[in-house]
Amino acid sequence: MLYHRPEQTEQAAFYGSWCRLEPAQSAPVVSEAGLYLDHAGLWLCMPGYAQPYRPSNADLLRRASRGGSRTELARACGSNLTGLDVLDACAGYGSDGLLLAQLGAQVCLVERDRLIWMLLHDRAQHIPRTETVCDQASNVLQGRSSGGDTAPAKIWDVVLLDPMFPRIAKKALPNRGLQHLRQLTEDPLAGSLELEDELAELLALAKAQCSGRVVVKRRLKDDVTGQVDFQIKGKSVRFDVYLGAA
Ligand SMILES: C[S@@+](CC[C@H](N)C(=O)[O-])C[C@H]1O[C@@H](n2cnc3c(N)ncnc32)[C@H](O)[C@@H]1O
Repeated sequence: MLYHRPEQTEQAAFYGSWCRLEPAQSAPVVSEAGLYLDHAGLWLCMPGYAQPYRPSNADLLRRASRGGSRTELARACGSNLTGLDVLDACAGYGSDGLLLAQLGAQVCLVERDRLIWMLLHDRAQHIPRTETVCDQASNVLQGRSSGGDTAPAKIWDVVLLDPMFPRIAKKALPNRGLQHLRQLTEDPLAGSLELEDELAELLALAKAQCSGRVVVKRRLKDDVTGQVDFQIKGKSVRFDVYLGAA
């Protein structure tokens, strides 16, 4: 369900083929995940939360202007991102991919979960050099559209892979945005072996369609998938870099 301020009826209609629309004066308390649209854009409404959630573009712009190019992510993707064609294949809310766009790359952001894609699409509209696709990453990498058409698969300068990390026993909860991502997109039946197999398949496809670097974001202590060319480590995550084969 997408709730919207009455004056946002026209903007809400864009999302009408994917969800039911209902006018509302404020973000409602919900019993299942939904969206709320006001003058600021789309908000995520989750059961058990009185306040809706929205990933912040202000944080993103701040990150880009304050040394964004020196972040581990940007260094893993390349020393100069200007004009590079980047595929963010597991985009989530787009915080990583949109940062790369702010740093000069042309970024295609792919997200398979429709509700998360809507939040991503709304967010990306304000960031130049971006497009968003709601599909499986493997389809985009192979040039298959969700309508079943095929086109010659594109060769990317950089492919970023950031699928969900396998769950670990940890007391501290992740931040609110990540908690919601987990609730909405995680398959409770998928174990770490399935997640690892899925990543290995995606990595092979990405390497075949990439002429530069395939960058896989992982927690510091996660296993390495396949033969990595080099790694860039941060405080809690690392970026495994594989050279593309295209
Ligand atoms: C850890 S989050 C990505 C967070 C993101 N890097 C950010 O900065 O917001 C992983 C996201 O990838 C999506 N995802 C995982 N596997 C995918 C696939 N094969 N194709 C498309 N999306 C995928 C999930 O639905 C989830 O939203």
